[in-house]
Amino acid sequence: MKTQKRVGILTSGGDCPGLNAVIRSVVSHATLTHDWQVLGIPYATKGLLEIQAIPLSMHGLDLRGIDPLLNMGGTILGSINKGDTLNHIDEILAGYHALKLDALIGIGGDGSLAILNQLQTAGNWQFIAIPKTIDNDVALTEHVVGFDTAVNTIVDALNRLTFTAASHDRVMIVEVMGRSAGHLALHSGIAGGADVILIPEIPYSIKDICSHLKELRDNWGRKFAIVVVAEGAQVADDSLLYASCQKPSCGMGQYIADEIRSCSHNQLDIRVSVLGHIQRGGIPSALDRLVATAFGKAAVDLLANGDTGKMVSWHNGQVEAVALDAVLAQSPLRVAENYYLVETARGLGIYVGNTNA
Ligand code: F6P
Repeated sequence: MKTQKRVGILTSGGDCPGLNAVIRSVVSHATLTHDWQVLGIPYATKGLLEIQAIPLSMHGLDLRGIDPLLNMGGTILGSINKGDTLNHIDEILAGYHALKLDALIGIGGDGSLAILNQLQTAGNWQFIAIPKTIDNDVALTEHVVGFDTAVNTIVDALNRLTFTAASHDRVMIVEVMGRSAGHLALHSGIAGGADVILIPEIPYSIKDICSHLKELRDNWGRKFAIVVVAEGAQVADDSLLYASCQKPSCGMGQYIADEIRSCSHNQLDIRVSVLGHIQRGGIPSALDRLVATAFGKAAVDLLANGDTGKMVSWHNGQVEAVALDAVLAQSPLRVAENYYLVETARGLGIYVGNTNA
């Protein structure tokens, strides 16, 4: 027997490609299969606080038969990635009741999901989480929405930079996002043919980077080099700090460039590209659309089964449900020194920081 539900959906934290594909999937499955009402909550918990909701329907999503949400970047609901949400718990819980919600689907990264988990416990909500983040640092899932597109965006940039680097025998420093997790730098660096990958989890030595770049030139005839630097990369040995700019006043890419310039005694021609929020935009990749669609449908199924406090997770080629508490206990998921992709990179001679530094 079908029970009509009024389900809220919100996107929280930094946006990423694929969020609208999740919304589309949730709305389609909830309305077509279950005849539920779906309400979009604008700007994450701010929408609950202000008692705002946008009715979403299949019909409303259509544009002369074209479904724009599948391939549209960003989030039609808007999002926030800062604020003092936990100082307003009572108002947010009151907003949830005022909107007469029976359940809520929250799409977020580890920070947002931790806040939503506190709210759902306090409010005794029926709540299902869907993981998204270009940082790929949510635990207990093999895929999150948004990561694949961001990796592809960086690889596209590396393809372009490689040709101009080779034409001018330059060292190209490419700064990518990742304050505390290096998955984005590691995956894109390997896929994009980087010679050096610097991530927050494995400290680097500037002396070793310079020797590596010299060896590439002298022993391997590689006159150009590609260095991918996560914004939160860490130095192992600060006794050799040459940089003329100091973090965080200059970004990590510029900082590394100055260090390499000094340790190479200005012998290397270096350029810096900071990819910034380009990595968060764009049309979602096929994989992100697929993951978004499967996650959205699964979240609705979990609500229909009466589940709560769970996160949809990709595991062994299918979507499963895991306890949100268990996910949060292991998030943010950082790159381990013995992670197989670190070993893969090192096996190919890519410098990925100091071993056991
Ligand atoms: O958490 C995702 C993320 O993209 C980080 O990698 C990055 O440091 C941060 O968001 C940037 O956030 P903002 O949009 O506030 O500049």
